[in-house]
Amino acid sequence: MHHRHGHRPVARAGSGDGVLHHCRPQPSCRRRASRVRRIVAVSIIGCDRFRAGYNVAKVEHERAVLDGPVEGRVLRAAQFHEFVAQLLEWGNRGDVIYVPRMRTQLVAARTVAEALVDLALDPDPATAGAAVPEIAGPREEEMVEAARLLASRRGDSTPIEGISDPDDPDRDAFEGGGLLPSPHATLGGPTFEEWLETALLGAAS
Ligand SMILES: NC(=O)c1ccc[n+]([C@@H]2O[C@H](COP(=O)([O-])OP(=O)(O)OC[C@H]3O[C@@H](n4cnc5c(N)ncnc54)[C@H](OP(=O)(O)O)[C@@H]3O)[C@@H](O)[C@H]2O)c1
Repeated sequence: MHHRHGHRPVARAGSGDGVLHHCRPQPSCRRRASRVRRIVAVSIIGCDRFRAGYNVAKVEHERAVLDGPVEGRVLRAAQFHEFVAQLLEWGNRGDVIYVPRMRTQLVAARTVAEALVDLALDPDPATAGAAVPEIAGPREEEMVEAARLLASRRGDSTPIEGISDPDDPDRDAFEGGGLLPSPHATLGGPTFEEWLETALLGAAS
C-alpha cells in the first residue's frame, strides 16, 4: 500500500498472502518479492484532475504500480476522516488554525482498508479499460466545517479559518469538487459525524 523507501512492509512478501507492500531493495527482498502475485495501491479520487503537488505524484504512483512487472490494482479513495485532525495540526498558528477550503466526501480509513483487502483478494482479473475503482464516504462535506466540528467536539475554541490560495493552479479543483467521487464510486459509512463519536470515545477511554 505504501511506496516510501526504507519502510517496513505492510504485509510480508512471500508469507502466503501474495499481496503487496514496500520492500527495501535488498537481494532477500527481491527473492520474496518475486513471489508477490498482486500489488494493491491506494490513491486519491480526482488525482488526475490536478496540475501540481501531491496529487500529481499519486498519478505517477498509480502508473508505477499498473505498469510494473507484478499485477497491479489501484483503489482511489476520498480524504480520510483521520486526515481532518492532521490538517488541524498542520494549520495551527496558536491563536488561529488555517484549514484549506476543499469539497470532500470524507471516508473512514478502516472502510478504505477493507476495500483494499477485497481488491487484493478479488478472484476476477482486472477488466481492461475499466474505470479506476473509487471509495468515498456517504456524503459530501466542506473540509473547514468538518475541522470545526472536530475542534468543537474536542472542546478546542481556537478560531478556524478557511484559506484559499489564488496562486494555486489547483484551487478550482480543490474548491470546485475535483476531489469528489464519480458516479461509479462505492460509498461506505460511517459519516464523519458518526465516526467522531466513536473516535473520541476511544480517545477518552
Ligand atoms: N490521508 C488521506 O486522506 C488519504 C486519502 C486518499 C488516499 N490516501 C493515500 O493513503 C496512503 C496513506 O496515507 P496517510 O495519509 O494515512 O499516510 P500517513 O499519515 O503518512 O500514514 C502512513 C502510515 O503507514 C505506515 N507505513 C508507511 N509505510 C509503511 C509500510 N511499508 N509498512 C507498514 N506501515 C507503513 C506509517 O508508519 P509510520 O508512522 O511508522 O511512518 C504510517 O502509520 C497514501 O498512499 C495516501 O496517498 C490518503
